[in-house]
Amino acid sequence: MNSGAKERVLSGIQPTHESFHLGNYLGAIKQWVDLQNSNDAFYCVVDLHALTVETKPEDFRRRTLSSVAQLIALGLNPEKCTLFIQSHVPAHNQLAWVLECLTGFGEASRMTQFKDKSQKAGSDRTVVGLFTYPILQAADILLYQANKVPVGEDQRQHIELTRDLGQRFNSKFGETFTIPEGYILKAGAKINDLQDPTAKMSKSSASASGVIELMDSPEINTKKIKSAVTDTGRDVIFDEKEKPGVSNLLTIYSALTGKTIAQSQEDFTGKGYGDFKGAVAEVVVDYLNPVREKANELLEDETHLKKLLSIGAEKAEAVASKTLSDTYKALGMISRA
Ligand code: TYM
Repeated sequence: MNSGAKERVLSGIQPTHESFHLGNYLGAIKQWVDLQNSNDAFYCVVDLHALTVETKPEDFRRRTLSSVAQLIALGLNPEKCTLFIQSHVPAHNQLAWVLECLTGFGEASRMTQFKDKSQKAGSDRTVVGLFTYPILQAADILLYQANKVPVGEDQRQHIELTRDLGQRFNSKFGETFTIPEGYILKAGAKINDLQDPTAKMSKSSASASGVIELMDSPEINTKKIKSAVTDTGRDVIFDEKEKPGVSNLLTIYSALTGKTIAQSQEDFTGKGYGDFKGAVAEVVVDYLNPVREKANELLEDETHLKKLLSIGAEKAEAVASKTLSDTYKALGMISRA
């Protein structure tokens, strides 16, 4: 259990694409940055999870390092938090196996992300790793005795499963794991696709034009925002039901400027959609320019990045190996003499 003075935070992100998108940032990473200041925070690039998506090795390698660079450029400070790559700490797989042996087949089959993805791909093209994916995620969280898990809305069910597995283990084998809470902020928890504002912005979206990628050029991102789908009517009003497109852009504008939704709405009183989209584009581009530059600069020194990751892995390993050994002990497994 976490008996430290500070609360533990853990979260992870997949390195499946060249760039994170604005949903990843506003739904999760922005909170990671805030939480590193007053918590004992662990953040990992979950490369093992990303193996569920087929990728060429050279792309995978580049994307993993680019993910680390983007996280630092967005504000993670490796001196304040523990930043590491999941596969550098083998205890993640080891605890996942234990939890797999506690998870019902029906329980895992009910995970909506698995259902959606496997339905789209068909059973012959769905890998078993996609099925056990949420259990590996539960291991990521329970290993660090995390109290809080900052994620977007789409991860709520996975956090529920993690809590269920932790509680099940504790009640069968004795108090071993801290039971975590999801840390899901209302604002930004679900950023939607610019072309289909009723669907979440997603790395696997059918069309790239609705997804704002953090590493894209200002020209591309400006164009995407200016051609975002808006709604009927002319007023810039936050109304998720009747005006999902405008509301999504207002959410983005408000999160990046730090203004409330009401203040953001006021900025556009009497103005049309054209002016509004132009202003949102400017805010997004101004926010992302230094991030992209910093990430590219960090990527020029791979040795430095790998050194930071090695320090992170060492700190993570110290916590993870203790939990794993407590788990094995609770199960009655014989430790090596
Ligand atoms: P991933 O890599 O798909 O997404 C990373 C984070 O971004 C959030 N997110 C969004 N938030 C708001 N609006 C959106 N449109 C949007 N799209 C994505 C996700 O909720 C997530 O927080 N399973 C996790 C990775 C993971 C993990 C963990 C998370 C593995 N182990 C342990 C927490 C703890 C995932 O798919 O993230």
